Order: sequence, then structure tokens, then C-alpha cells
Amino acid sequence: MSRRKVVILTGAGISAESGIKTFRDSGGLWENHRIEDVASPEGWQRNPKLVLDFYNQRRRQLLQAQPNRAHLALAELEKKFDVTIVTQNVDDLHERGGSTKIIHLHGELLKARSEQNESLVVDCVNDILLGHKAPDGAQLRPHIVWFGEPVPEIENAVPHVKEADIFVVIGTSLAVYPAAGLIHYTTYESEKWLIDPNEMPLPRIPNLKFINEKATVGVEFLVNRLLSDD
Ligand code: APR
Repeated sequence: MSRRKVVILTGAGISAESGIKTFRDSGGLWENHRIEDVASPEGWQRNPKLVLDFYNQRRRQLLQAQPNRAHLALAELEKKFDVTIVTQNVDDLHERGGSTKIIHLHGELLKARSEQNESLVVDCVNDILLGHKAPDGAQLRPHIVWFGEPVPEIENAVPHVKEADIFVVIGTSLAVYPAAGLIHYTTYESEKWLIDPNEMPLPRIPNLKFINEKATVGVEFLVNRLLSDD
């Protein structure tokens, strides 16, 4: 029998217990930074140094962080299921946690790309400074999808969601599209779970169950349940 397919949509909340700030919680990143300054093409045109500083700081923090029990538990699911992770996160904690199929909708902090050619992507563990050049001679920029830019990876994510037997949403406010709309591609009969420690307006979707816990607790609970049911 073929393995059942699990698709998991994650947001900043799954990395919160690794010490990485979310965006919209109190004390979150957008409380102290204006989105239009640090995460938009217009902000980059106006003040690229500010943008580079912001992501350099994020990258330095990421290199100090470790995957938490939620990341590790999701990797365990691969023992019995065909698992695809669709993440809005730009960290690499799913990779380091051991998951093998990961779609990064919003880019990756540990990559940089040419300002002139979005397909010219290079690895990046150090700060990016003004004057750092891509192989085509253009300025390097973070490999991050900014507000107002297309989200090309959504096309890879949708077919997985359509085929999911089980769809799990973890630690996202579902405030940003197109990621927030992915749940609407699930089939009626698929099992749907949402894990978040805060009460939130739930998408109006059949068969959706809410686990009102932080990621480490909620994901371990769900993973144990799925592994023992199957
Ligand atoms: N475990 C699970 N969820 C948590 C935890 C935790 N320990 N702590 C907070 N959360 C939840 C919050 O309740 C909230 O629902 O994580 C969610 C974080 O929401 P946002 O800060 O809006 O982050 P996210 O949904 O990932 O943002 C989407 O917005 O700015 C952009 O590009 C950025 O990818 C990001 C996108």
C-alpha cells in the first residue's frame, strides 16, 4: 500500500521556541521595523544598507539557533508517511531538524541572489554588504520574497496540497497570501489540523481540528497520534 501523504504548512510560530522572533506577535519583528522599509522592493531601492543590515542580523541569529522538538518531530513523520513541508520561514531549521522535502515559499536566509537576475542564487552564511557582487557583477541581495514580489514556489506547493490525505498548519497567523490560501486546495475528506497557542479565527473548512498549544507540545502530540494510528 502506498504511504499516506502529509503536507505541512509552517510559519514563524514553529521557530519561536528556537528563539527566532515571529512577525506579528507582541514583540514581533514588525513591531520595530516597517515592512515597507525592510521587506519591499521600494525599501531596497531607497536604502539597501538598511535592508542588508536587517537580514544580516536575522542570519546571524539563525546561525545561533537550533531546531526545536517540533522540527524534530516532523522529521520523524517521514518514517511512515510521504511528508512535504511547505514553509513561509526563511530559516533552515526544518532542514537541520531532518526533514527532506521542503518548499520555501518566501526564500531562504542562507542564500543570496543577483539584484539583476533572480535565478542567479548563491549560498550565503556571512553578512551581505554593499559592493558584494553576484557572479554576473550585480549587487547581491537577500534571497527573500518581499512584499509586492511574486511567490513562484506557490505553484510547486499547490499540487501537494491537493493530494494531501492529512494537512497540518503550524504557527502562522494566515495573514499573508498566497500561503494563507493553500488550505482551500485541500480535499473535503482530508484530515486538517491547525496548531497555534493563540486563539485565532479558524478558516471555514470541513474536518478542521484546532490544537491550541505551542508548537513543541502540539506537534509532538499530533505526530505521536499519527504514527500510532497508521
Ligand atoms: N508555537 C506555535 N505557534 C506560535 C508560537 C509557538 N511557540 N508562538 C507564536 N505562535 C503563532 C502566533 O500565534 C501566530 O499565529 O505563530 C503565528 C505567527 O504569525 P506571524 O508572526 O504572522 O508569522 P507568519 O504567519 O509566519 O507570517 C507570514 O509574513 O512578514 C511575513 O514573510 C513573512 O513569512 C512571513 C509571513
